[in-house]
Amino acid sequence: MRVAMIGTGYVGLVSGACIADFGHQVTCVDKDTAKISALNAGEIPIYEPGLDELVRANVEHGRLSFSTTLDQPVAAADAVFIAVGTPSRRGDGHADLSYVYQAARDIAAALRGFTVIITKSTVPVGTGDEVDRIIRELRPGNELAVVSNPEFLREGAAIHDFKHPDRVVVGTDDERAKKIVAEIYRPLYLNQAPILFTQRRTAELIKYAANAFLATKITFINEIADLCERVGADVQEVARGIGLDNRIGPKFLHAGPGFGGSCFPKDVRALIKTAQDHDVPMRILEAVETVNDTRKRAMARKVSAAFAGVLRGKTVAVLGLSFKPNTDDLREAPSIPLITALQDMGAKVRAYDPVATEQARQVLIDVTYCQGPYDCVEGADAAVIVTEWEQFRALDLVHISELMTCPVIVDLRNVYRPEDMKRHGFAYISVGRGSIHTPVNVPGRAERSKAVLG
Ligand SMILES: NC(=O)c1ccc[n+]([C@@H]2O[C@H](COP(=O)([O-])OP(=O)(O)OC[C@H]3O[C@@H](n4cnc5c(N)ncnc54)[C@H](O)[C@@H]3O)[C@@H](O)[C@H]2O)c1
Repeated sequence: MRVAMIGTGYVGLVSGACIADFGHQVTCVDKDTAKISALNAGEIPIYEPGLDELVRANVEHGRLSFSTTLDQPVAAADAVFIAVGTPSRRGDGHADLSYVYQAARDIAAALRGFTVIITKSTVPVGTGDEVDRIIRELRPGNELAVVSNPEFLREGAAIHDFKHPDRVVVGTDDERAKKIVAEIYRPLYLNQAPILFTQRRTAELIKYAANAFLATKITFINEIADLCERVGADVQEVARGIGLDNRIGPKFLHAGPGFGGSCFPKDVRALIKTAQDHDVPMRILEAVETVNDTRKRAMARKVSAAFAGVLRGKTVAVLGLSFKPNTDDLREAPSIPLITALQDMGAKVRAYDPVATEQARQVLIDVTYCQGPYDCVEGADAAVIVTEWEQFRALDLVHISELMTCPVIVDLRNVYRPEDMKRHGFAYISVGRGSIHTPVNVPGRAERSKAVLG
């Protein structure tokens, strides 16, 4: 199969490279000339584990190429994927479909013969109908089918997810299109991935319903965590206790600073808007959105509580900036409202992230960016673990304690065990474990040394 992938971002580049790896001929197209130049020079513009190797191998085998123009790749393609961004529209929270519709117009101009146009971007119900209308209006007489094929990969595990999906959803009732899409994904039959053929509108809604459900699950456990703090229970044990119930399942039950990233926040907002437009208000999701938005900034209060509410003049070290580990994606990351709230309270912020520092510099000013976790905590009054990068899971606690001015750790991912932290002399605040902390009596350096030395 000849495939054109329009949009070469987190989804388009991974999807394009994986489809090439299945043995198809893929051209990834992007309007961003810097991105395409980098890819043509052998550089990967995003951080995604294993992607550099996958791209290199498929380029070498002549199955994967990159272009800033879509005319030739689309004219030659059996299938054209649309994988452009659908961010929140400024002002009202609807999905901004301008990139999708522009891609549809660009594709229409280049089509040659029967082609399947496959929308992989996350788009509201009915967008496929509009893409279909736009292309048919511009190219009456050119046979085509517009299919919805939402993507469920997770950044940080994107290649594995693409190649081992829980399911592939294909929304179309065009038989020719079904055959072409099935042929593209044929290698997945070997992995026994179920392919679910549905109506196009149903496929579009499946994607939003999935993300909204997962966001709800996270928000639910976060509220349970707040209650745990008040009543002296442990949210991790509650999560395990309910997660072992097969009807509930253990995933997405990790209490933390609130969900962020390039998908959940915007998709929850967009689904709320779609529902409102159809006069079906989604009260649960409205609550999820409000609770989550408030929560991210409120995490700063966990830090200030350790200093009786006064952070002015304190130095806070933030460990982890990306919205989750193994990605450099900073979109709607909890670190952003947390850091701005800390700064608003008068704290000086130092920060370290293994891969997201360059992105952070564009968004977060007045932050001292550091070279490593130990460099970051040096001289700090408190350290906050915001992203659970693997390298933060086994920090040298004795060394950290020596480097910090005050041994206060706020662990927003529950990476450490409270008893271990206590043993190392830290004032330790986590999420939903044990009783709500009263202001911590922070020991001075001498007392701390005693505590650490036992
Ligand atoms: N990031 C994820 O984890 C993820 C997972 C599942 C679904 N999605 C969905 O996939 C879509 C893409 O997300 P992303 O994170 O890859 O976005 P992204 O911003 O990383 O990439 C989008 C790319 O499209 C390019 N583009 C925009 N208009 C174009 C045009 N007309 N022609 C060519 N290129 C164009 C942009 O330059 C950009 O490089 C979104 O709808 C998103 O909701 C994302």
